[in-house]
Amino acid sequence: MTNVLVTGGAGYIGSHACKALSRAGYTPVTYDNLSTGWEDAVRFGPFERGCLTDRARLDQIFAAYQPQAVMHFAALSQVGESMRAPELYWHNNVAGSLSLMQAAVAAGCLDVVFSSTCATYGDQDNVLLDEGCAQHPINAYGASKRAIEDMLRDFEAAYGLRHVIFRYFNVAGADPEAEIGEFHQPETHLIPLMLDAIDGKRNALTIFGTDYDTPDGTCIRDYVHVCDLVQAHVLGLNWLEERRGSRVFNLGTGTGFSVREVIEQSAAVTNRVVPIVEGPRRPGDCARLVSGSTRATVELGWQASRSTLAQMIGDAWRWHQSGHYTK
Ligand code: UFG
Repeated sequence: MTNVLVTGGAGYIGSHACKALSRAGYTPVTYDNLSTGWEDAVRFGPFERGCLTDRARLDQIFAAYQPQAVMHFAALSQVGESMRAPELYWHNNVAGSLSLMQAAVAAGCLDVVFSSTCATYGDQDNVLLDEGCAQHPINAYGASKRAIEDMLRDFEAAYGLRHVIFRYFNVAGADPEAEIGEFHQPETHLIPLMLDAIDGKRNALTIFGTDYDTPDGTCIRDYVHVCDLVQAHVLGLNWLEERRGSRVFNLGTGTGFSVREVIEQSAAVTNRVVPIVEGPRRPGDCARLVSGSTRATVELGWQASRSTLAQMIGDAWRWHQSGHYTK
């Protein structure tokens, strides 16, 4: 079986990627320091604990598993935190990725699938974002991911490190079998916070801003099901196996939903009341982030077949009710 090194394989998206990889016949080798991930979520292949910045440990892992490719998810990913403590993002995300890329090149592992974000585009309200849009991140998280994208391009030119970069829009939902799901501590994302409010784990969901220049005044996002998202990664891996060169793909559906629309849909799916309060805007939030690209569909044959709002909320709700990870 072919090994794929999955950094951040104990996290939300990484663990779903491990499941998809194992279903596709690969052995996902999780490398994770458990700073935000959960060992309970590592169920589909071996687990190796370690930090990206620990080059000696990475060299050991590459030697032991001889992975064919790296899927690089491990990162800090909270926009607000990145504004308060940018050094964490430059250290963990950028310096960590540098150490990982150096180890990959040294080991001759030259295929990388990288988890980037629409946050690299920054505030381009009312524009449908495609891969050709300029990247002007407005927070340190987005800036760290853009820097890693640049690093990958430089490493391709110098060392032939080929890469597929995926720029995610808003990832949501959970494994339909509820084996794994989204669980952050602290939680900052809309749908899990709303599910907590619905079942009384928190008093109410605060809507961050009702005065945006959008039809109902709340922010619009393009939500994509985590299972669809990770399926694109398997396709990206196949693309690297079959072709020369590198490519960037947006992963979104092209349809935006406002915070109020997500709330309405959640009430309908769960058949419960969503307790809400209206609050001020959250710093760093763009009014509207929607993908305007069909590149992943056209070139990878990707279909976002599970990404209806009802399906994403339904899968997240099932997982939410079935229990959580523990340290
Ligand atoms: N929101 C609320 N109340 C909450 C939480 C969120 O109203 O309690 C709103 C936000 O203001 C935003 C929307 O719900 O309009 C979605 O917020 P999330 O925190 O779920 O997601 P973000 O859009 O902020 O962040 C996501 C990813 C980031 C990525 C970013 C790109 O989680 O990693 O998209 O903008 F950088």
